[in-house]
Parts: sequence; structure tokens; C-alpha cells
Amino acid sequence: MTPPQWGIVCRSGSAPVESIPLGRNLFRCHIYSLGQNFISPNYEPQNQRRLGVFSEPYEQFQLLGGSSWSSISIGIYKEVGNVKKPFTPPREVHVQVTHSMPPEKIAIFDSLRGWAEQNILVHLKPVEKCWQPTDFLPDPASEGFDEQVKELRERCKEIPDDYFVVLIGDMITEEALPTYQTMINTLDAVRDETGASLTPWAIWTRAWTAEENRHGDLLNKYLYLSGRVDMKQIEKTIQYLIGSGMMRSAMKQHIPRSNGAIMAIGDMMKKKISMPAHLMYDGKDDNLFEHFSAVAQRLGVYTAKDYADILEFLVVRWEVEKLTGLSSEGRRAQDYVCGLAPRIRKLEERAQARAKQRSPVPFSWIFGKEIKT
Ligand SMILES: [Fe+2]
Repeated sequence: MTPPQWGIVCRSGSAPVESIPLGRNLFRCHIYSLGQNFISPNYEPQNQRRLGVFSEPYEQFQLLGGSSWSSISIGIYKEVGNVKKPFTPPREVHVQVTHSMPPEKIAIFDSLRGWAEQNILVHLKPVEKCWQPTDFLPDPASEGFDEQVKELRERCKEIPDDYFVVLIGDMITEEALPTYQTMINTLDAVRDETGASLTPWAIWTRAWTAEENRHGDLLNKYLYLSGRVDMKQIEKTIQYLIGSGMMRSAMKQHIPRSNGAIMAIGDMMKKKISMPAHLMYDGKDDNLFEHFSAVAQRLGVYTAKDYADILEFLVVRWEVEKLTGLSSEGRRAQDYVCGLAPRIRKLEERAQARAKQRSPVPFSWIFGKEIKT
């Protein structure tokens, strides 16, 4: 039994209902031995010690008929440092945004169901026509499995560590698929309301998730077989990431119709599109996502240039520059969106120059080896 680190409160003899002051902060309380019929909001009757967290300054312990305080002693100690709740995500998002769409907008999506069926669902590939992870991996049911694994590991030897870091980060991002399906289902008008809904939006979401699921699956098995990576650290990162979820930026809710699209785009770009795995954590590196994406950027896997290219493509495709009849606010949003891609490119050049001076970072995924970011 651990002795209390700070103070002890003992009650003996018979006592009525008692309140025990626990101070203003959160405290933990050990209960060493309990008599019969002990009841409290946090505890079930137990013979031995229980550990709980008090969130209120006072916690009431109430004795039910027949038992007495003599059978109970309570040790209270002050918790050192921050007291966390029994389970909290490793990464917490403090500004939570909920969404509610006005009924007229929901009606627009409802009216688009036929269109979605004809134009969106056609892009889903039938399962029988899709590749599966096994098509690219040694077949565990075949005679030559051991040999194939050996070959795979032989080929992997040539791949530099920084490429593995990027492959791992990408795999982890893919493996957080439950989060993305959840995010889609936070959206009004298109969410899967029953989990097996037959609206085209819901059919799309489930089938897209099912298609996507193969990506992480393949990468995971490949990396596992490679023998080059610390699978346990990777698996922990996946569990942390799914437990943390993700956060989307809030969109302005009430935008005048004539300026709607351009102002919505401007608003979204200002708040930045957050990357799906930005809450990534491995239990060690507090800036894991930044370090991973810096390596991906350095290797040219996904760069700010790609981001700027996509943006530029959309500006041209949607003819943003040619929009007329905008309010002054709308025109400001138009200028902002049109000027963004060149701005990102310039910022990128400066960031590149700074990156040259950064020192290498250890990645737990590859047994703590240091990688240039
Ligand atoms: Fe994917």
C-alpha cells in the first residue's frame, strides 16, 4: 500500500455524513480500507485501495446504516504537477467547432441527390476490380513465402532511412481512416445518419472509406516485412492519432449569396487547411508531425510548391480572376485568393533557406536514428 504523500485524514468512531475538504485543485485520494456499506459518488464498495480523481473541492463520503468510520481511513495527497483526467487524448484541440447548416442549404444538398448518384457514385470502383494489398506482398499461403520475404528485405536494404520516415508517416496518416470517416459524418446534409444509409452521400462515404482502407493496410504490411522500422513505436503513434482525432477550421456561416463562393474560399485559405494527421504523436516527439512533414518536404514527396500548384490550378479552373459584380469584401477575398499561390512560393523559398541550418531530429519509428529535416 502506498503511503499518502501529503496529509492523512482518519475518521474513527461513528460519524454522520462527512465532507472532507480537499482544497481548490484536483486531488487524488487513496482509500485504504473500506468498511461495509460504504458509498460515495466515485467509488464502488471495495475491500482494498481505490484511486480516483476529485474535480470538486469537496467530496462527500457517506456512510450507510450500520457501518462506522472506524473501519475507514482515507489518505489524501496533493498531486504533483498537472492532474490529467483518467484518459485524455495526447493532443487536445481547445477550440471546438460544431456545425449546423441552415435548412435552405440542407435543401440544396437534398435536391442534389439524383445528381450525386449519376455523377459521383460512378467513380467508385467495384471491389472485384480493385487491387488488394496481397497483390503486392508475399503470399503467406504459398510455398515460396520465406524466399519472397527474404527478397523483399534484400531490396529494402537500399532504401535510405529518410524515405522510410516518409513512408511511415504516410502509412500512419492512412491508418487514421476512422477519423476521416468521422469527420465526413460531422457534415450536415451529407452525413451517414444510420451507418447504413442509402443516400448517395452516405454510400460514397462508406465506399470511399473501404477503398482507402487498402492503402494503410498495404503500407503497414510492407513496412512490417521490411524489418527496417520499429513497428511498436509506429503502432503506438497510430493509436495516439486515432485517439486524438482531428480538427477542421470553421467556415463563416453567413456569407451573402453573390459573394458566397469566393469569400468561402478566402476564409478557408486564411484559416489554413489543416493536414489530416497534424495531431500525430509517438509518446516522445512533441513536434512529430512538423518533423515528418519537413522530411517529406525535403525529399519532394509533398511540398509547399505542390500546395501552391493545386491552388493555382483551381484559381484558373474556377476563373476566380474573372469574377465580376462582387462587393468590396468579395473583391478583397478575390485579390487574396489570386495572390496566395505566389505568396506561398516566396514563403517557401525563405523556409528552405532556414531549413539548411536545422539540426537532425531523432525518429522513434526508426529506432531513434537522426534524420535531417
Ligand atoms: Fe489513401
